[in-house]
Amino acid sequence: MIRSEWEKHCRDPVLWDVGCANDEIRNRFVIPFLSSVLRRFRPSTVADVGCGSGYIIRALAAQEWAASVHWRLIDSSQRMLDYASTRMPASAQYTAIAADLLLDIGTDSWPRSSAVVSTFTLLEFPLNEDVVDRLARLIQSGGTLIVVIPDVLQDIISTSTLEATIKEYCAGHIALTKIDKFLRETIPFHANRFERIIECFSRIFDLITMCSTVNSKGNRYYGIVWRSRT
Ligand SMILES: C[S@@+](CC[C@H](N)C(=O)[O-])C[C@H]1O[C@@H](n2cnc3c(N)ncnc32)[C@H](O)[C@@H]1O
Repeated sequence: MIRSEWEKHCRDPVLWDVGCANDEIRNRFVIPFLSSVLRRFRPSTVADVGCGSGYIIRALAAQEWAASVHWRLIDSSQRMLDYASTRMPASAQYTAIAADLLLDIGTDSWPRSSAVVSTFTLLEFPLNEDVVDRLARLIQSGGTLIVVIPDVLQDIISTSTLEATIKEYCAGHIALTKIDKFLRETIPFHANRFERIIECFSRIFDLITMCSTVNSKGNRYYGIVWRSRT
C-alpha cells in the first residue's frame, strides 16, 4: 500500500517531467554531477530513491558509460513509477519498485545496490535515524550514496513567522508548506537543515567523499557523496 504525503497530494508526473526538462538545476548541475560521480565509481546497480518521473535516471541511462548499469527506480507514487518506467530508454536494464522509504524499504529482503541516489527526496519527510538506516540498508558494503538537496534557508526566510520558524530550523527540521515551482500547487515541504543531514549520515558513513555546490538565482544547491564502510 502506498501511503506517502506526496501520494496524498497526487502530483502529476507529466507536469513534473515538464518542470524537470525546463529546470536549469537538474540539467546543468544535478545530471552532470551524478554522471561524473557514477562514472568514477562504475556501479553495477544504481537505485534512485524517490525517482519521480524518472527524468534524471533517463538522462543518466542514455549515456554511453551507463550501458551495463542495472537501474532500480523506487518511488512511493505508483503514478510516478508507471510514468518513469514506460519512458526508460529501450536498451536500459531496470526494475521499478513501488515502496515507501518510511515504511517498506530497508528490510533484509531488499536488494542492495552499489550506488544509491536521492535527488530532492529528503524534502519530503523529516530526516531521522530510522530513515538513514533504511537508506543505508539499500547500499552494498563499499557502495556509494549520493544526495542532492537545496539550501532550504531561503524558503524559511520567506515565511511570515520568521523567528519561531528559524528556531525550529536551528533544531534540525521544520515542516512548511510552499508553492511547488513545477506544479504551482501548495505542498508540504520538509526543511531539513544541511548540518542535520550531514550529522545523520555521518553516523553510518565514515567520510564524505565529495561535496559539490552551485549557486543559481540566489539559491544554493548541494551534491554530497558518501562511501559506505567495506
Ligand atoms: C521532490 S520529488 C523528486 C523527484 C526526482 N528525484 C527529481 O529530482 O525530479 C520527490 C519524490 O520522492 C517520492 N517520495 C516522497 N516520499 C517518499 C517516500 N517516503 N518513499 C519513497 N519515495 C517518496 C515522491 O513520490 C516524489 O516522486
